Amino acid sequence: MDKKTFYITTPIYYPSDKLHIGHSYTTVAADAMARYKRMRGYDVMFLTGTDEHGQKIEDKAKAAGLEPKAYVDNIVVGIKALWKLMNISYDKFIRTTDDYHVKAVQKIFRKLYENGDIYKGVYEGLYCKPCESFWTETQLKDGKCPDCGGEVQKASEEAYFFRLSKYADKLLKHYEENPEFIEPQSRKNEMINNFIKPGLEDLCVSRTSFKWGVPVDFDEGHVVYVWIDALSNYITALGYGSDDDSLYKKYWPADVHLMAKEIVRFHSIIWPAMLMSLGEPLPKKVFGHGWLLLEGGKMSKSKGNVVDPVVLCERYGVDAIRYFLLREIAFGSDGVFSNENLINRINFELANDLGNLLSRTVAMVEKYFGGTIPAEREKTEFDESLISMAKGLKANTESLYDQLLFPNALTDIWKFISRANKYIDETTPWLLAKDESKKTVLANVLYNLCESLRIVSVLINPVMPETSPKIRQQLGLTDEIEWDSAGVFGLKDSYSVQKGEIIFPRIDTEAELKELEKLMPLAKEEEKKSAENIALIGIEDFAKVNLKVVKVLACEPVKKAKKLLKLTVDDGERQDRTIVSGIALWYKPEDLIGRNVIIVDNLKPAVLCGVESQGMILAADAGENDVKVIFADDVPVGSKVR
Ligand code: MSP
Repeated sequence: MDKKTFYITTPIYYPSDKLHIGHSYTTVAADAMARYKRMRGYDVMFLTGTDEHGQKIEDKAKAAGLEPKAYVDNIVVGIKALWKLMNISYDKFIRTTDDYHVKAVQKIFRKLYENGDIYKGVYEGLYCKPCESFWTETQLKDGKCPDCGGEVQKASEEAYFFRLSKYADKLLKHYEENPEFIEPQSRKNEMINNFIKPGLEDLCVSRTSFKWGVPVDFDEGHVVYVWIDALSNYITALGYGSDDDSLYKKYWPADVHLMAKEIVRFHSIIWPAMLMSLGEPLPKKVFGHGWLLLEGGKMSKSKGNVVDPVVLCERYGVDAIRYFLLREIAFGSDGVFSNENLINRINFELANDLGNLLSRTVAMVEKYFGGTIPAEREKTEFDESLISMAKGLKANTESLYDQLLFPNALTDIWKFISRANKYIDETTPWLLAKDESKKTVLANVLYNLCESLRIVSVLINPVMPETSPKIRQQLGLTDEIEWDSAGVFGLKDSYSVQKGEIIFPRIDTEAELKELEKLMPLAKEEEKKSAENIALIGIEDFAKVNLKVVKVLACEPVKKAKKLLKLTVDDGERQDRTIVSGIALWYKPEDLIGRNVIIVDNLKPAVLCGVESQGMILAADAGENDVKVIFADDVPVGSKVR
């Protein structure tokens, strides 16, 4: 029987000489998904590429004194090198300047025209002569061109339009009949309420003001609008519109188009309308993830606040960065990149939790049994809880990976890693080793640890393709890695281990933060600037922040963090909510226990020195180096603060 197919795409990237860590998020997520599906036995097509046409590129090439094609050729080399560095296992890389793509886009445009969905009209707008660009009223900056600041004038040009308006009802019907077409659901509501319901206008799909694009082959002087050109890549890459469309027949419709939220609009409105017009099936899912932000806002090259993935991969290894990205951005929300967050995750989750589990296990097998666990083994009372957790892990991971819920899957795998570390504390192998009659128990403990690590090595493989084989090598596993083997505990007869290098060396946080600031100073600059520019906000912005009164039930200092206190609070719904607060210099635990304070209830959780903080307490900067917590002792717990 033929294998089941799985077709996943990333957006095609604008050629930029420096893709930042935010860009690499989508590609890493798509790669993890592609690797996972391959491991599950699917015949996978993973597509990525570059979106190389348009006026901006034409302008940049001119500024660089190059022909546009030569200009993009150089940049694409760098993009491919980045994906290589990050272990991106794409099956195909499409460039919109590829000949076959250009020809297929021309065919697509012509077909839409012949179907009556593209018609000729007049495009009216505000024109900036030096920039050769049309702008709408709202795009202007103080009534001037947002690019050069020059005067604009009303102008019109002949253009082709796509009858997008005709597809509004069909799109709504499709969303309704296919509830999983746009995910997360919040993005679907945004599409319906912000774009379709207010009325879809026909879309201008050709330009005559610049040359660098796919020429409309039946009307000289017109080039195809970049988004029509770009979106078509998902099918032209498979040979649609060429002499050989066997890949198209095999893989289309795509299982998932993955992207960040800002371009969901193009993928869930324009793209399906184009496909409907062409009479082709629609992709099964358009998934819009959140952004990776810097504390000061979205990373963007024009703002100059980019974090360079190459620097990070070289310093910490690719897998640490892949792990961080996939763990940090929760389903549907934005994630915040900070050097401190990254180093904390590397130190606590990778070096401590996973790294130590491996090195301790291997070291003990070597020390107590000369490297090979004996066959005779005797159970302990702690086995059951470890083994039952291990056995449920594969199914749980599958269900989460299948929904692209990488952070949730990794969180659960790390809970199991912590469980295995706890098993060492419970069974105290170093004491068992002292008692000759407990050798069989000791053998069993170490065997169970090796089995646990083996299962982890399978489940993390899609996310950490370099670390997984390193773990297996130390466990002495030479067989090919198979997904289903993660569902069995007790698979191997025995283990002969081989001590290897530390998989994630611990980082000296303070020294490293200083070093990173030197290496990537722009990010810091931007953070500072945005802190200074505090803009006025409307009441609707304030309404996004939920403030709530909670009672402090317990409080203790956070180990090795002079400034942090860990509070356990009752928020009216649960009594075990953890809040980490940087107030240890001003408050002792006993000053806070039993008191009511105000928290930001809907703050995205963040890990501070290894402890997850689920909110933030309000405190005032009450003078130079003095902080005062806002107490609310006479307000009932759970009250909303407005
Ligand atoms: N060329 C268009 C896409 C056409 S697809 C038919 C484009 N390119 S882009 O280079 O600007 O961005 C591509 C993608 O990079 C975004 O959709 C998103 O997936 C990813 N990201 C760019 N910045 C990002 C963050 N700061 N955070 C997360 N993802 C980000 O749009």
